[in-house]
Amino acid sequence: LTIDKGNHRHFMLKEIYEQPIVVAQTLKSYVRRLEEEVSLPIPDFDLSAIRRVTIVACGTSFYAGMVGKYWFEQFARVPVDLDVASEFRYRAPVMEEGGLALFISQSGETADTLAALRHARSEGQKIAVVVNVPTSTMAREADLLLPTHAGPEIGVASTKAFTCQLAVLAALAANLARAKGRLDRREEKEIVRHLSEAPAAINGALAYDSAIEAMSGAIAVARDVLYLGRGTDYPLALEGALKLKEISYIHAEGYAAGEMKHGPIALIDDKVPVIVIAPTGPLFEKTVSNMQEVQARGGKVVLISDYDGIQAAGEGCMATITMPKVHPLIAPIVYAIPVQLLAYHVAVAKGTDVDQPRNLAKSVTVE
Ligand code: G6P
Repeated sequence: LTIDKGNHRHFMLKEIYEQPIVVAQTLKSYVRRLEEEVSLPIPDFDLSAIRRVTIVACGTSFYAGMVGKYWFEQFARVPVDLDVASEFRYRAPVMEEGGLALFISQSGETADTLAALRHARSEGQKIAVVVNVPTSTMAREADLLLPTHAGPEIGVASTKAFTCQLAVLAALAANLARAKGRLDRREEKEIVRHLSEAPAAINGALAYDSAIEAMSGAIAVARDVLYLGRGTDYPLALEGALKLKEISYIHAEGYAAGEMKHGPIALIDDKVPVIVIAPTGPLFEKTVSNMQEVQARGGKVVLISDYDGIQAAGEGCMATITMPKVHPLIAPIVYAIPVQLLAYHVAVAKGTDVDQPRNLAKSVTVE
């Protein structure tokens, strides 16, 4: 197997562009499009008996898990604990016998996550793993292996593995909901339909690449950048900030839009760009009102929304990024693209080593 960058300048950009295909490939294992059913590899335990889920991961995989938490709670009504692996291991977590512990990892080798997995096993948990490397240690140690089919990811900053993880987690949430009798046939069909729309919507998002590149210069000069989102777009705000930090070395913070007034609002001036992730949907108005609080303090906003959202709230923004209109279920999958592209172009503008950022490793096998 030879892996090259093709026509792309960096592996990261190539991997961003692979997402329509690899998300579709991943979904194939979890969604039966013709039958309009969600499906999983059959676990050797009873999904319907799961009363609590513990999600543990690191880095970008952790943020995928955070989106998963919203979905498991919303669809399956199962309580979810969520932790970064390095904290989980040492905080004496309380786990009920027979709970499901879910580990998410691109590499399947991250030392903290692996140690957390073994700890959860010793506490009588069923072990499910979402991993991209099928031969990895985590894959071998799982009771339920849920592979992502992103293909080898070379860029140190994770991109395509993240969106594939989200696709698997959405399908798992739907499966869990069905097993628990919380998903009727009509709802299941709808979920399948929305998930099946994701690859085309990602393509639509990629079409905005050059517009994102054009605005990257304005972000590249910033010292600090704030990302805001609500609901499943809150983890995306965290992921956007992480991506920017990792490859452009600009200080960035992700915040729940409604929490901004409890601290970060003190940072707002015309030198701190604020990236607002706000697809239209149930939380749109609330996020927009937080955005207006930023604007009232002279903050420079980049609004990422769909056409309707930008029509409704785009005025007075420093820039807008138009996404295809998608169902809220797949919004975090689709809106991952602009935050990845923004980080990428800012890093290129700054001349950093995009694929091999300083001090970072692709897979961290030490504590
Ligand atoms: C490193 C990488 C990140 C990744 C994290 C977790 O920090 O630089 O991109 O998200 O590890 O890796 P994993 O392989 O467990 O998903």
